[in-house]
Amino acid sequence: MTLTSPAPGNLRNATPNPLLGGDAVVYQVYLRSFRDSDGDGVGDLAGLRESLAQIADLGCDAIWLNPCYASPQRDHGYDISDYRAIDPTYGTLADFDALVTQAHDLGLRVLMDMVANHCSSQHRWFQAALTSAPGSRERARFLFRDGRGTTGELPPNNWESVFGGPAWTRVTEPDGRPGQWYFHAFDPSQPDFDWRNPEVAAEFSAVLRFWYDRGVDGFRIDVAHGMVKAAELPDHAGGGHNHAMWDQPEVHEIYRAWRALGDSYDPPKYLVGEVWLPSQQLLGAYLRPDELHQAFDFGLLVQPWDAGRLRAAINTGLQVAGRAPAWALANHDVHRTATRYGQQQSLEVPPPTDMISAARRRGPVDLQLGTTRARAAAGLLLALPGAAFLYQGEELGLPEVLDLADEARQDPIWLRSGGTELGRDGCRVPLPWTSTGPSLGFSPPASAPPWLPQPAWFAGYARDAQQDDPASTLTVYRQLLHHRRTLFGPDATLRWLDDATGGLLAFTRGQGACVVNLTDHPREVPPSWPLGQRVLCTEPVADDSVLPANSTNWFQFPSSDTTTNRRNDQRQTS
Ligand code: NOJ
Repeated sequence: MTLTSPAPGNLRNATPNPLLGGDAVVYQVYLRSFRDSDGDGVGDLAGLRESLAQIADLGCDAIWLNPCYASPQRDHGYDISDYRAIDPTYGTLADFDALVTQAHDLGLRVLMDMVANHCSSQHRWFQAALTSAPGSRERARFLFRDGRGTTGELPPNNWESVFGGPAWTRVTEPDGRPGQWYFHAFDPSQPDFDWRNPEVAAEFSAVLRFWYDRGVDGFRIDVAHGMVKAAELPDHAGGGHNHAMWDQPEVHEIYRAWRALGDSYDPPKYLVGEVWLPSQQLLGAYLRPDELHQAFDFGLLVQPWDAGRLRAAINTGLQVAGRAPAWALANHDVHRTATRYGQQQSLEVPPPTDMISAARRRGPVDLQLGTTRARAAAGLLLALPGAAFLYQGEELGLPEVLDLADEARQDPIWLRSGGTELGRDGCRVPLPWTSTGPSLGFSPPASAPPWLPQPAWFAGYARDAQQDDPASTLTVYRQLLHHRRTLFGPDATLRWLDDATGGLLAFTRGQGACVVNLTDHPREVPPSWPLGQRVLCTEPVADDSVLPANSTNWFQFPSSDTTTNRRNDQRQTS
C-alpha cells in the first residue's frame, strides 16, 4: 500500500520501529487517570502531553494508550461508539495528532488499543441493527439469535458474560414485541461483532488504516483470543473455561490480514495481543511469523513470590515466544503489584487464569513487604529478554486503593456482580503528581474532583516527593531503565545460575547478571557465581557481599571478561 498523504507524525518517523525489535519498554497510559488539563476531573490528551517528556526521561521506548475513541464510557473506553473519533472528554483529533508528533519528537512510539471484539451499543451499526428486522444485513454484523423456549423467552445458549450474568440480552423489536437476543461477552452495552461477516473485517481494516495514516505505530489488541466464536454457539458443558467462546482457529485469519496490512507500511506497524488463556502454551499459535509480533505473557503476573514458580513461568514464556515475550506485572485490569506481593498467595492454589480472578482481593496486605517485593519484581521484569510493559503509577510504587467507597466505584464488574467482585477501580485512581493540592496535581487548581477519589495517603506517593529522593521507587525505576540496555542489551539468551537453597533466582544475559533474593532474609552472594560488579540493588545495600531480603541485584561483568558468559553456559540449566 502507498500512503498518499502521510500525517505529520509519519514524516519524521521513517526510522526503524523499536517495538519490532521485541525488547521495547512500553509505558501504559490509562488516559482518564494520567493527567487532567481542563479541570473536569478526567485525564486527557493535553494533560498527557504536558508530562510526556517525563515518560521519555524515564527511559521508555513507547506508550500504549488505553482506548480514547468516542465512547459512552460504560467500560471506560472499551465500549466504542465511533472508531474514527477521539472522545471529547479526552480532546480532539488535532490533540491526538499533536500527541503523536510530540511523542515521535521525544523518541516515543505510540500504540493505540484496538477493541474489535465488540463496540458500544451506541455505535451507529448497533443502533441500526436494533431498528432493523431479524435476518437483516444490519443484524448480521452482530450475533443476534432467536431465543429458546416456547416464545423465545430463554437465551440462545447458556454462556456467561465475563463481567457476570448471562452473555445474552433480549431486544424489543421495532413493532414493540419482545424479540431476538444479542450476544455480549462483556457488558450488555458492549455487543460482540460477528467476525464471520466479511463486512466487519473490511471495516476494521479501514479503521486500522485510518490511525496508521495518522502516524500510530501499532496496536494492542483487546481480547485477541475472543473475536470469533464457535459457529454453532453450543451450550457450555461447564467446568471453567468455555472452549466455544475463546481461541477459535478462525481468529488467526484476522491476525494474518492485520499483519499483512501493517507490514505494507514502512516502517511496518506492530501488533501485541491481549490473550488470556488457561495455559501460556496456547499463546504460541498467535505468534506465528505472519500473525502478531507479540502477545502479553501473563504467566509472570499471576505467579506467587516464589523462585521456582517464577523460573518455570519465565522458561515457559521463553519457550513459547522464542526470543521476545511481552512481559507485564500489572495493567488496568489487575490489582497493583505493591498490594499483590503484600498478600499471602498459597503455592497450593493454582494461579488465576482470567482477569476477574486476578483482580480479586486476597486477604490482609503487608504493604511494606509488598512494596519491597514489587520493586524487586520490576528489577526481574526489566532484566528479562523481551518487551516490558509498565503500567502507569507502578513507577511510583502505588498500591491498590482497596478502600474506595462503594458509591464511588464504577467498574461494570463491581456493578454487575452486585458488589461481590471489587473489580478494577482500585488500580485506576488518578495519579498523584504533587504532595499537596486538592487533586495532588492531577487537575489544575479549582477543578472538579478526580473521577475516582484519591485517598489522603496517595500524597505520600506523589511524583514530586519521589523525584529527588535517592531511596524512592521512582529512583529505582529510573536506575533500572538506565542500566537495562547497557547491561543486558539485545542478547536474548538467558542463562540460569543454579541455587541449591531455592530462594534465589539468578541468570546472566549479555554483559550483566540479575539476582533476585526472594527470601525474607539477607543472603550471601554464592561465591561460585562470577557476577562482577553490582551496579544496582532495589534495596539499600549495607554490605557488598550481601543480597538484601526481597531485592533484585544487577551485576556487570568486567568489560575485559568476555569469557564470563561463555563460562556460565556450562552451569546453565532450564
Ligand atoms: C480487556 C480490557 O483490558 C478490559 O479493561 C476490558 O474491560 C475488556 N477487555 C473488555 O473490552
